[in-house]
Amino acid sequence: MRRKVVAGNWKMHGSRAMARELVGQILAASPGGPEIILCPPSVYISEVVRLCEGSALMVGAQDLAERDGSGAFTGDVSADMLHDVGARWVLVGHSERREYHAETNDMLARKFDSAQKSGLTPILCVGETLAEREAGRVEEVIGEQIHAVIRANGIATFENAVLAYEPVWAIGTGKVATPAQAQEVHAFIRSQLAREDANIAGLTRVLYGGSVKPANAAELFAQPDVDGGLIGGASLAASDFLAICAAAR
Ligand code: PGA
Repeated sequence: MRRKVVAGNWKMHGSRAMARELVGQILAASPGGPEIILCPPSVYISEVVRLCEGSALMVGAQDLAERDGSGAFTGDVSADMLHDVGARWVLVGHSERREYHAETNDMLARKFDSAQKSGLTPILCVGETLAEREAGRVEEVIGEQIHAVIRANGIATFENAVLAYEPVWAIGTGKVATPAQAQEVHAFIRSQLAREDANIAGLTRVLYGGSVKPANAAELFAQPDVDGGLIGGASLAASDFLAICAAAR
C-alpha cells in the first residue's frame, strides 16, 4: 500500500558529464517498481531534469533556502527557484546540513514549510549521532526532530512529505544499521506521527539511509516500516543504484 521510494543523494559529487552518463545508464535499464528520485547538486538540477524528461525518474534538491520568495540572500536558492527548474522533491535537514551548517530543528521546520508552499515534497531527514545512541537518547532526539516540524506546521503537513531515518553513525561509514535496529526506529517514527493522526502515520513513507548497498538493501527494505532508501555513495554508480532500486520492488 505504501509505494517504495529510492532517492539518490549525490551530495557534492559529479559534473555535467557524470550526470549525463549516470542518468543515461539508469534510463537504459528502465527500472520499474519504486518511485525513483535523483538529487544532484543544485547547479545540475536543470540538466538532470532535462535528461529525465519523459521518464518516470524524478528530481530533487539537497537543500533549499529558509526564506520564501526572493530577496537579498546571497548564495541562497529558494524553493520557488528549485521548482521552476523542475525539482519536485527536496531533502530537508540532512545530517550534513545540521552538522556543517548548524541547521536547527526550528530552521528546518521553516524550510519544510517553504518547500511545500512552492510545490516541492520535503524529505525530512532525522537521525541520532553515535554519542546520542550510546547515551540512550535515540527517541528523545528523533522525537524532537519530528515534533519541531509538527509544532510549527501541524500534523497535516505530513500528508505531503516523506521521512528518512539516517543514523549519523551509518552515513558514509560502511556501518549500516541492522534491519532490526532500523525497524525499531522506523516503528518509533511512525508512532510519533500516529500520536497525532493514525491515518497520516499509516500513509507516510519512512526511508532508511546510511551505507545502503546492493548487499544489504533487500533485507532493510523487507522490514515492515521501511519504505525504501536514501542512498548516498551507492547512488553514484549506476549498477549499485539499479540493484538497490530492484531490491525495492
Ligand atoms: P551513504 O549516505 O549511503 O553514503 O551512507 C547516505 C546519505 O547521507 O544520504
